[in-house]
Amino acid sequence: MRAVDLIAKKRDGLALTKDEIAWFVESYTRGDLPDYQASAMLMAIFLKGMSREETVNLTLSMAYSGDVLDLSDLIPYAVDKHSSGGIGDKTTLVVLPLVASCGVPVAKMSGRGLGYSGGTIDKLEAISGYQVNLSNEEFRRLVRENAIVLTGQSKDLAPADGKIYALRDVTATVPCLPLIASSIMSKKIAAGANGIVLDVKVGRGAFMTNLDDARELAQIMVDIGVDAGRDMIAVLSDMNQPLGAAVGNALEVVEAIDCLQGNGPADFREHCLDLAAYMLRLAGQGKKWNDDAEIRGLLTEQLSNGQAFARFRSLVQGQGGDVGMVDDPSRLPKAPIIETFTASQSGYVAQVAAELIGMAAFGLGAGREKKGDPIDLAVGLEVHAKVGDKVESGAPLVTIHARKPEQLATCRSTLQQAITFSDSPVEPLPLFYGTIFGR
Ligand code: URA
Repeated sequence: MRAVDLIAKKRDGLALTKDEIAWFVESYTRGDLPDYQASAMLMAIFLKGMSREETVNLTLSMAYSGDVLDLSDLIPYAVDKHSSGGIGDKTTLVVLPLVASCGVPVAKMSGRGLGYSGGTIDKLEAISGYQVNLSNEEFRRLVRENAIVLTGQSKDLAPADGKIYALRDVTATVPCLPLIASSIMSKKIAAGANGIVLDVKVGRGAFMTNLDDARELAQIMVDIGVDAGRDMIAVLSDMNQPLGAAVGNALEVVEAIDCLQGNGPADFREHCLDLAAYMLRLAGQGKKWNDDAEIRGLLTEQLSNGQAFARFRSLVQGQGGDVGMVDDPSRLPKAPIIETFTASQSGYVAQVAAELIGMAAFGLGAGREKKGDPIDLAVGLEVHAKVGDKVESGAPLVTIHARKPEQLATCRSTLQQAITFSDSPVEPLPLFYGTIFGR
């Protein structure tokens, strides 16, 4: 095969065969195909799109470009979740132990944050000693002995995606549905999941800013999963305002612990309960958990009776983290400056712009510009306002946790733009916009 012929075929809008796609992925991953030809192919895909069959073939080639985890000897049915990323999204920290507390073993690989979007692995590193790089043997041992593992992504998993994503980043080919869908799903399939719950965020703080695009992305990923023999559920969830209150690594761990102890902001708790319920439904395979009210009752009970929190403790302990910090979250990294940002007028909260809140936290040092940059785990924001709330002038809207006094002025001015008011009542934002079920 010649790369130039495949590029021309895609340029002319024709569908690539399974073998052609596999050849492209394998050659590029091995280093036999130069970046300029891979870039041309990615741009041709960006401009001409891919059919469902091509997208599935691309995903599977990428998934099988490295190790594919097989946990079937340890877990009868592996259930995973994935969020497309957002502001204040610490859902995994709650949902994983919550699902595990119901007797479903969970073994998950998560990523780091980039830009103003956070990553679970950074959040966990706020807990001293927590190991995010596990060998395959350690990973398997923890699945066997602890039935809960949450670690960074192994470099040997879907290496094609690592290379292709880096090239997309510098060739303006990131926002392309088949490329996004294959990137996400290749990693999920390589991580050995039988059932996957996708949390596709939509709104101004998300990758997908409008509902139609988000729905299309969710549907493509569900289709890929189904064609690859996985059980799939995708939820479309709001990311116009932050999820919960905390935005920033250690602050989000504190909020997750609060939620695991039966408290926490109502929207975040509700979001976690919904996602955990879908995971249980998949794990139960239509036999164990069917009734929505029964599932909801069980999960709520696990939050209030301490069982979900106990699983979080054993997760941290299993991975070498300081459990004392979990028992006493005031020992987690703390910023030296704590300031309150108040409402400049009375009225109804019309907007808490997620991307601006993300940028304000980023400006304090909570995020990283490029891969490998250090981040400040202690800084961030607690956003107390939600769209639709009625507030009085002077009411506390945000607690700022900062390291340097010179960061405060910019942070305040970004918050001023982020939170706006209306004189007339404003409808609260929905938590979810819909659910797409695979098989
Ligand atoms: N997340 C991924 O893993 N890949 C993409 O292409 C976009 C978001």
